[in-house]
Amino acid sequence: MTYSIGNIRDEFPILNRKVHNSELIYFDNAATTQTPLSVVKAMDEVYSCYNSNIHRGVHHLSNISTQKFEESRRDIAKFINADKEHELIFTRGTTESINLVASSFGDAFLKEGDEVIISEMEHHSNIVPWQMLRARKGITLRVIPLLDDGTLDMDIFSSLINERTRFISVTHVSNVTGIVNPVEDIVKEARKYSIPVLIDGAQAVQHIKVDVKKLDCDFYVFSGHKLYGPTGIGLLYGKEELLDKMPPWQGGGEMIKSVSFEKTLYNELPYKFEAGTPNYVGAIGLKAAVDFIENIGVDNISLHETDLLNYGRERLQHEIQGLLFYGTGGDATSVISFLIKDLHPFDVGTLLDKMGVALRTGHHCAQPFMDRYNIPGTIRISFGVYNTHSEIDKFIGLLKRVEKLLK
Ligand code: ALA
Repeated sequence: MTYSIGNIRDEFPILNRKVHNSELIYFDNAATTQTPLSVVKAMDEVYSCYNSNIHRGVHHLSNISTQKFEESRRDIAKFINADKEHELIFTRGTTESINLVASSFGDAFLKEGDEVIISEMEHHSNIVPWQMLRARKGITLRVIPLLDDGTLDMDIFSSLINERTRFISVTHVSNVTGIVNPVEDIVKEARKYSIPVLIDGAQAVQHIKVDVKKLDCDFYVFSGHKLYGPTGIGLLYGKEELLDKMPPWQGGGEMIKSVSFEKTLYNELPYKFEAGTPNYVGAIGLKAAVDFIENIGVDNISLHETDLLNYGRERLQHEIQGLLFYGTGGDATSVISFLIKDLHPFDVGTLLDKMGVALRTGHHCAQPFMDRYNIPGTIRISFGVYNTHSEIDKFIGLLKRVEKLLK
């Protein structure tokens, strides 16, 4: 399919709104993407036509919503090429998915002295759950350091693995720099020692083709709201063999086969991990988001966003004096993180907001990354399917105005 930016933008009425009387330039897609009309319509249809709790009723409406919910699981499983749809657990998002694994797998199978490897570029959501596990179980965290160009030091990674390593949890794509990690190599290395690997795909699935079978990872997690879907819904993919062994994380309805005061029998996958009424409206919305992405084509999205990334980097480099990029090594997706000499990122972000630009400044929930480079934070622009060269041109013009105001 040809990439029709006009048609794509028509799906997002929010892009036509004004902010502080200026045209909106939405460059904060790594924080959340906007929602296309097809997703809003799919969710509106649930509430207006067949809203009903799933897996519980014998009645017509409940059957429709159950069917739609399970259809969503099937389609999202296909989207990441999972073998079996029951290997997909609906969660609230990436953070909940990682907490589920750290708690269920970690509490059941890790013990004092065992080691978990993470990296220096992780989002807090892939650091704190492991620190909480450390507090409960006395495990040790090992951290893959970053090189000056923002990539992982893979030599050190290999040397961190030893007979005590029990788990590896790393991000696919950095939310600060957009750098794509060599997760295939990480999984291959881990396989040699039968160490399970979790990949945080929160910043990957919306930009590049993800194939969990090809990756051969044990767990893969992501969020709906960064994938043009609704908030409050996300996924945990896990290999059946591991999910089967893991104990449930939360207790309640849906996750049981039978309950008496003496004994409870747990449900099978995936329901064992879906206690309580799931966010079925969110799941149905997320299926519509996946359809939206697949209609455009993930490869087409990658091409479009790589073009924006290269164009944005080149223009910034040439037009803004004293600009320093963070994370220029290796492959990258559509994120640019930078600082401008003598300007505080917060001041730049605040003034740009007054001109209609939405971007993120600060530590981006990755404080260890900022400590590594000894900076308070960065200015981050992040692109999505609907961004254009002309928005980048306008942005550069506005950034020059901000520079003049602050210098
Ligand atoms: N994790 C999101 C970000 O990077 C919120 O902005």
